[in-house]
Amino acid sequence: MRNLSEDNLTEAVLAKLEGASDARFKFVMTALIRHLHDFVRDVELTEAEWKTAIDFLTATGHTCDDKRQEFILLSDTLGVSMLVDAINHRMPAGTTETTVLGPFHVAGAPELPLGSDIAVGHPGIATYCHGRICDAAGKPLAGVQLDVWQTDHEGFYDVQRPEQGLMRLRGRFRSDAEGRYLFRTIKPVSYPIPTDGPVGKMLLLMGRHPYRPAHIHFILSAPGYQPVVTHLFAEGDTYLDSDAVFGVKNSLVVDFVEQVAGSLAPDGTRPDQAFCVVQYDFGLLEA
Ligand code: BEZ
Ligand code: FE
Repeated sequence: MRNLSEDNLTEAVLAKLEGASDARFKFVMTALIRHLHDFVRDVELTEAEWKTAIDFLTATGHTCDDKRQEFILLSDTLGVSMLVDAINHRMPAGTTETTVLGPFHVAGAPELPLGSDIAVGHPGIATYCHGRICDAAGKPLAGVQLDVWQTDHEGFYDVQRPEQGLMRLRGRFRSDAEGRYLFRTIKPVSYPIPTDGPVGKMLLLMGRHPYRPAHIHFILSAPGYQPVVTHLFAEGDTYLDSDAVFGVKNSLVVDFVEQVAGSLAPDGTRPDQAFCVVQYDFGLLEA
């Protein structure tokens, strides 16, 4: 193993995996090393470019803390998160498609009764979101947990404005005996993903905008069923066809149907301001 050249260095590195006992680890690392070396050969990477890449990854790591995950943002903006999602969630008919989790989920959101408002005290267009949760055959599922989160009317998650309080615009609900759910919120808005770190610089160099179309996040979970990490996107949003993280699927785009003041809302009230109604049925796949 001396005098290694661009022609035999890859095989020499791969030979070092001979002692790896975990077969999957060995398989993945072999492919990673092959692709990485092929990439370097393909582009004939310069030493300055290699240093730039090391500095970029170092800065990405330094940008991470317990509230900020710049590596996930990097994966999201390079389409890797959605590729992993696509490979791992090939959903059959009757089940809800998945999309990217994103970095703003917070475990332990308040458990609320059906019909509750997760946007109390927030400006914005009141929105009632309701529907049913069923299995792939259409049988209603009771007791499914819906973990819901979204931005405020200016496109910020609570964790981005902690001075205004945490656990805002978040809640956990359980479907009723007929599989129904209902909660109140505000109509979400499109917003930019964080651009003040290395990923923001990368997007700028790529000539890309950082915006995501308006959406509400959901994680649905129930014993015996695969958890569904997904969003509902607002039909008509400017960024549906250019989501910065490639997460939009047609089946997840819904109408926020506008209703005039005094119309009957899904909770049986007649709000004195105009509001929106979103109706969406979720389908879960057995585990
Ligand atoms: C989000 O929708 O919260 C999100 C997803 C990916 C990257 C940044 C934000
Ligand atoms: Fe989001």
